[in-house]
Amino acid sequence: METSSFNSPPHLTTMSATPFLLATLVLAMVLCSAGGVLLQPQETNMVLYFQDYVGGPNATAMIVTGIPSKIWSFASFGTVFVTDDPITEAPDPNSAPVGRGRGMYITSALDGSTTHVLISIVFTNGQFSGSTLEIQGSSPQFQKYGEVSVVSGTGRLRFARGYAKFETVFVDTPIGYSVIKCNVTIRNA
Ligand SMILES: *[C@@H]1O[C@H](CO)[C@@H](O)[C@H](O)[C@H]1NC(C)=O
Ligand SMILES: *[C@@H]1O[C@H](CO)[C@@H](O)[C@H](O)[C@H]1NC(C)=O
Repeated sequence: METSSFNSPPHLTTMSATPFLLATLVLAMVLCSAGGVLLQPQETNMVLYFQDYVGGPNATAMIVTGIPSKIWSFASFGTVFVTDDPITEAPDPNSAPVGRGRGMYITSALDGSTTHVLISIVFTNGQFSGSTLEIQGSSPQFQKYGEVSVVSGTGRLRFARGYAKFETVFVDTPIGYSVIKCNVTIRNA
């Protein structure tokens, strides 16, 4: 009988087949115990508030660079900001801390109308303490509302994905302080 080079030695075939059979059995047991119905992905919603200070001695968002020969500002293409905003559970800056909004923003539209958001929500308190959510996307500037993606997470929020809606709920222009509501909707699969 002719043999082909694709045939594996028998012991290798057995070893690779065993975990597959076990996995199939476990899956069958899970399906039976759930009444044969696959469970829906779990959806989680959380509303958080970013405390954003763009000026003063305690600024939490600052310009790090921009295009040489251009003015560096929110409205100027290529301006890069680094941020570490406190996040609280209510609009009041003295309400319970939830975590930090750490990362960067880059003015990404040539006309300055959008910023590219690349931040992590780093939870330091509450049920997700020690976990993070990764927030990414293009967001309109100088408008009350914006929406970006939640692309993943870590810790208890691994494999999370969804969206985060931003809304500026308070602005004090002279001192460069604003409160940004962040309404996150994620699924765990
Ligand atoms: C900046 O932070 C320091 C230390 O927490 C505080 O004493 C000071 O009042 C703050 N300054 C402003 C303008 O908020
Ligand atoms: C947050 O967003 C969800 C879904 O987009 C919405 O149903 C809910 O009312 C919002 N919650 C708040 C407090 O804005």
